[in-house]
Amino acid sequence: MDLAIVVKVLARFVHVASAVTLLGGVIALKCVAGPVTDSMARRWRGVVLWSGTGLVLAGLWNLMTKENPPPGYHMWFGIKFLLAMHVLAVSAIAAKESTPVEKRGRLLGGAMWSGLAVVLISAWLRWMR
Ligand code: HEM
Repeated sequence: MDLAIVVKVLARFVHVASAVTLLGGVIALKCVAGPVTDSMARRWRGVVLWSGTGLVLAGLWNLMTKENPPPGYHMWFGIKFLLAMHVLAVSAIAAKESTPVEKRGRLLGGAMWSGLAVVLISAWLRWMR
């Protein structure tokens, strides 16, 4: 198999796997787990760190290797990037032990909606012409 294809598939795998891990974690903590305790926040920190690293590194690779981005692509990507930074920033704040439990719930709620908007824009980026 052509090495370039292997790298593209791997970059997409790392990006999408990191996305489902982070956003799935946000939705599970917000809608299923109930109040996020300090010990849950401690364990959540590692998930945010690794999935965040995978999202940014593989995301930059996806961006740099995008062939013939159509008009408006970078505008939509910019909107996605700002929303993605919101998801990553508040997920990291929710992982801090100094963050009150009630505030964690509110933060994760905001991250959930921003994250769903990011996935919608990502699907549009994939098929926009
Ligand atoms: C919460 C954070 C993020 C989530 C949930 C997310 C989710 C996704 C998903 C699901 C796709 C695949 C879409 C498809 O194949 O139909 C995608 C593609 C992509 N993502 Fe992300 N992403 C996030 C953050 C980022 C960041 C930080 C970057 C850049 C630094 C980035 C750059 C890209 C690029 C360039 C693509 C390819 C779009 C295309 O097909 O043209 N993403 N993202």
